[in-house]
Amino acid sequence: MSEPQPLNESNVGAAADAALAALAQANDSTSLKLARAEHLGEQSALAGFNAAIKGLPGNQKAAAGKLVGQAKARLTQAFGAREAELSVAEETERLAAEAVDVTALPTRWNPGARHPLSLLMEQIGDIFVGMGWEIAEGPELENEWFNFDSMNFDEDHPARAMQDTFFVDPVDSHLVLRTHTSPVQTRSMLERTPPIYVVAPGKTFRTDELDATHTPVFHQVEGLAVDKGLTMAHLRGTLEHFARLMFGEEAKIRLRPNYFPFTEPSAEMDVWQPNAKGGARWVEWGGCGMINRNVLRASGIDPDVYQGFAFGMGIERTLQFRNELNDMRDMVEGDVRFSQQFGMVV
Ligand code: DAH
Repeated sequence: MSEPQPLNESNVGAAADAALAALAQANDSTSLKLARAEHLGEQSALAGFNAAIKGLPGNQKAAAGKLVGQAKARLTQAFGAREAELSVAEETERLAAEAVDVTALPTRWNPGARHPLSLLMEQIGDIFVGMGWEIAEGPELENEWFNFDSMNFDEDHPARAMQDTFFVDPVDSHLVLRTHTSPVQTRSMLERTPPIYVVAPGKTFRTDELDATHTPVFHQVEGLAVDKGLTMAHLRGTLEHFARLMFGEEAKIRLRPNYFPFTEPSAEMDVWQPNAKGGARWVEWGGCGMINRNVLRASGIDPDVYQGFAFGMGIERTLQFRNELNDMRDMVEGDVRFSQQFGMVV
């Protein structure tokens, strides 16, 4: 502490001026409090002057008491006024900072959506369930026997090479990533007794490069009916009904002769799209036919008692021509804007 100053008018005035200067400097309530403690508190010069009054000769006490008392009163008033002023300013500032704009738009976020391919498979499943058919499933990592042999592909039949297969190591495990949903035919027949009516949607795999019309992982739906007395007419009627529900009342189908090892006779099925963008057209939609007797036999079904028909089509391809999509890559890239075009079904 500095030396106590003699109690006189000029020193009390100087202490009051120093206090007012500190007050003027304080621009928030914390520094104002510090300034107040320094200039008006117990250790202040003014408190020192106040204490010194006691030691004065009796005839000087009244004048000195008045001098110090007035200075103290003036400072107390000034600090109080400044304190009130700062507290109003700080409150105003705090309210402004905490203000909420109740008219602001909330942050929007996009919920996930079901993929159009999943929705299409579900829609196909529903169409067949509506006709009393069952939905069947099979494994994606499939036994070579189910994928090829049971489907009547000979050991060295060229048809086996027709499909670009992902074989799985070790080769003698005889496992493949299924190249089509047709092995679900055999699995369904082994698990059930006729009459059998099943559809099997699912993933399939081929060693294709990803481009506008191919993806190495894609989807198919397989259909299988086994009963007494089934003919091509039942196959045709079923497919036409399916086509109408998928593409509209005016849709019709046509069958063109073809070859598949698992059906005999076999056909390629086209669907008529009267309202396609580029004008009415026939579009190739899938394969079908009467189940080959060897396929029935491989599943323990007597082909002299039961007949069956089967069909299979690509889901990506169906989505592509039904919705006039140019590039299949859009279906696998996971951009939510693609899904949004088909309606966000969460
Ligand atoms: N499995 C065939 C493919 O992958 C599609 C197919 C054709 C399925 C004819 C069938 C059928 O059930 O009868 O190309």
